[in-house]
Amino acid sequence: MLSESFCSWLLLFSLALYTLGQSTSNDPIRGVNLGGWLVTEQWITPAVYQGTYANDEWHLCNQLGPKQCASTLRSHWSSFYVRDDLVAIRSAGLNRIRIPIGYWAVDLLPYEPYVSGQYPYLIRAVQWAGELGLSVIIDLHGAPGSQNGQDNSGLIGPVLFPSNASNVDRSLNVLRNLTEEFSSLVYNNTVIGVELLNEPRLSATFSMDQLKRFYTNGSAVVHDASTRSGFNVTIHDAFWGPQYWTNYNPSNAAASQPAQGLAIDTHQYYAFAPLNNLTAPQILQSICNISQLLKAPHSGIPPTVVGEWSLETGNSPVASSSDQNGNDNQARRTWFRLLAEAQMRAYSPTAEGQSSIGWIFWAWKTEYDIDTWSYRRGVADGWIPSIASNYSTYAFPVLANGCVDTTYNYTAPRKVGSAGMVSAGMLDSRLLALAALVCIAVAM
Ligand SMILES: *[C@@H]1O[C@H](CO)[C@@H](O)[C@H](O)[C@H]1NC(C)=O
Ligand SMILES: *[C@@H]1O[C@H](CO)[C@@H](O)[C@H](O)[C@H]1NC(C)=O
Ligand SMILES: *[C@@H]1O[C@H](CO)[C@@H](O)[C@H](O)[C@H]1NC(C)=O
Ligand SMILES: *[C@@H]1O[C@H](CO)[C@@H](O)[C@H](O)[C@H]1NC(C)=O
Ligand SMILES: *[C@@H]1O[C@H](CO)[C@@H](O)[C@H](O)[C@H]1NC(C)=O
Ligand SMILES: *[C@@H]1O[C@H](CO)[C@@H](O)[C@H](O)[C@H]1NC(C)=O
Ligand SMILES: *[C@@H]1O[C@H](CO)[C@@H](O)[C@H](O)[C@H]1NC(C)=O
Ligand SMILES: *[C@@H]1O[C@H](CO)[C@@H](O)[C@H](O)[C@H]1NC(C)=O
Ligand SMILES: *[C@@H]1O[C@H](CO)[C@@H](O)[C@H](O)[C@H]1NC(C)=O
Repeated sequence: MLSESFCSWLLLFSLALYTLGQSTSNDPIRGVNLGGWLVTEQWITPAVYQGTYANDEWHLCNQLGPKQCASTLRSHWSSFYVRDDLVAIRSAGLNRIRIPIGYWAVDLLPYEPYVSGQYPYLIRAVQWAGELGLSVIIDLHGAPGSQNGQDNSGLIGPVLFPSNASNVDRSLNVLRNLTEEFSSLVYNNTVIGVELLNEPRLSATFSMDQLKRFYTNGSAVVHDASTRSGFNVTIHDAFWGPQYWTNYNPSNAAASQPAQGLAIDTHQYYAFAPLNNLTAPQILQSICNISQLLKAPHSGIPPTVVGEWSLETGNSPVASSSDQNGNDNQARRTWFRLLAEAQMRAYSPTAEGQSSIGWIFWAWKTEYDIDTWSYRRGVADGWIPSIASNYSTYAFPVLANGCVDTTYNYTAPRKVGSAGMVSAGMLDSRLLALAALVCIAVAM
C-alpha cells in the first residue's frame, strides 16, 4: 500500500539528492576528467585502435585514412560519453568536469592526418553539464608539434611545439576560438575557463622562458577574447610544482602577488617517475606533504587544483595492476580506499586563504574500467566514497594537519556477490523524482 507521506518523502529525498550535487562557486572542486574522449588514448579505449598498429591519434588516422578515421572516431565520440555519464557524475557528488581537446578540433592543415568533428560533441557536453549543474574546464591537451611527445598530446615523438613559431600562433588561435565560444552568454557561465596547455615537458629545446612567453600571450588572448569577466585561465605547472609559481602573474614578471583569475594545475601521479619508486608509507607521506603545501595560508601560491591524479602506483602493499577478472582482493580494496581518501582530503581546502581549490580525478571511466583509473568503478566497488561532497560517506578520520589518519583501523567490507554493487551515489535524482510523482498518482 503506497501512502502519500511515503511519496512525499521520496520526492523530498530526490530533491535533496539533486541539490546535493548543485555546485556553488565556493565549493571545493571535486571533479573527473573526460579522458580518452575527444583526444583518444589507446590504453583508455583499445577498441578504437583495434586492428591498427597505431598508438596515438595521429598515427591512427594516418593508417585508417580520413574517411575511415572520421567514421571510427564519430562513433566513439557519440558513444563514449553520453548524457547518462554526466548524470552519474553529478550523482556521485561531483561538481566539475575537465574536458581535454586537441588543436585539430579547431585548426587542421591538409597535410595533418588528424580528423576534426569533435566540436559539436564538446558543445553538447557543455550543454548537458549546464543543465545538470556541473561546471566545466576546457583543456588544450594537444598542441601543434606536441608539447610533451606523449600519446595524450595526440602524437608520440619529439617535442616540436616550441620549434616553430606557427605552432604557438595556431595554439593561440585555438585558445581564442575556445574562449570566444565558451565565454558566450548562451552557456550560462558553465565553462569556468580554459587551461592553456596540458603537461608541457620542458627540456634543452623547450625552456621555462619560452613556456612563460606562451602563458603570457595565452592569458592575454583569453582576457581579450572573453565576452564576460571571470572567464579564468589555468596553467599547468610544467611539473615544477605549484610553489615554483608563487606570486606568478603572466602579464607582469615583477608581480608581488598572483594574477587575478589565474589558477595552477598540478598533476600528482605515483605511477610515473620520479614518484613511482616510493613505498606505500612514503606515498602517504608525500600526499600529506603536498596537502600541507597547498593548505599553507596566504603562501602566494596561486589557487591550485590537482587536475589529474589516480590510484595507480609503481609500488603498493598489494598488486595495483589492472585486474579485470573480478577476483575479490579485500586487501587491495582496503589500500585503494586509504589512497583515495588520503588524496581527496589532501587536495581539498579546509579554510580560507589556502591555495588549494580542489581536485579532478583521471578519469571518470576507461573502456574496461581499470580499477586504479576509473572513478565510477571505485564508487561502484566501494573504494571511492559514494558521494564525494558528503564527508559522512568517507571512512577515515582527519588529523589536525588536514591529512587522513593513516593508522585508522579500516578494512574494506567483504564483497556481496560478484556483481558490482550499485551504491546510493549512482541513484539518479530525476528518476527518483519521477518515481515519487508516479507514486503520488497511484496513491491518490
Ligand atoms: C571555433 O571552431 C569551431 C570548429 O572549427 C567552429 O565551429 C566555431 O564556429 C568556432 N567558434 C568561434 C567562436 O570562432
Ligand atoms: C542556459 O540556461 C537556459 C535557460 O535556463 C537553458 O535553456 C539552457 O539549456 C542553458 N544552457 C546551458 C549550456 O547550460
Ligand atoms: C612551421 O609549421 C608550418 C605549418 O604549421 C609549416 O608550414 C612550416 O613549414 C613549418 N616551418 C618549419 C621551419 O618547420
Ligand atoms: C606575444 O606577446 C608579445 C608581447 O605582447 C608580442 O610582442 C608578441 O607578438 C606576441 N606573440 C604572439 C605569437 O602573439
Ligand atoms: C576565477 O578567478 C577568481 C580570482 O582568482 C576567483 O575568485 C573565482 O572563483 C574564479 N572563478 C571560478 C569559476 O573558478
Ligand atoms: C626505480 O626503481 C627501478 C627498479 O626498481 C630502478 O631501476 C630505478 O633506477 C629507480 N628509479 C629511481 C629514480 O630511483
Ligand atoms: C615530506 O616532507 C618532509 C619535511 O619537509 C621531508 O623531510 C620528507 O622527505 C617529505 N617526504 C616525502 C615522501 O616527500
Ligand atoms: C551524507 O551521508 C550520510 C551517510 O551516508 C547520510 O546519512 C546523510 O544523509 C548524507 N547527507 C546528505 C546531506 O545527504
Ligand atoms: C582492527 O579491527 C578488527 C575488527 O574490525 C580487529 O579484528 C583487529 O584486531 C583490529 N586491528 C587493530 C590493529 O586494532
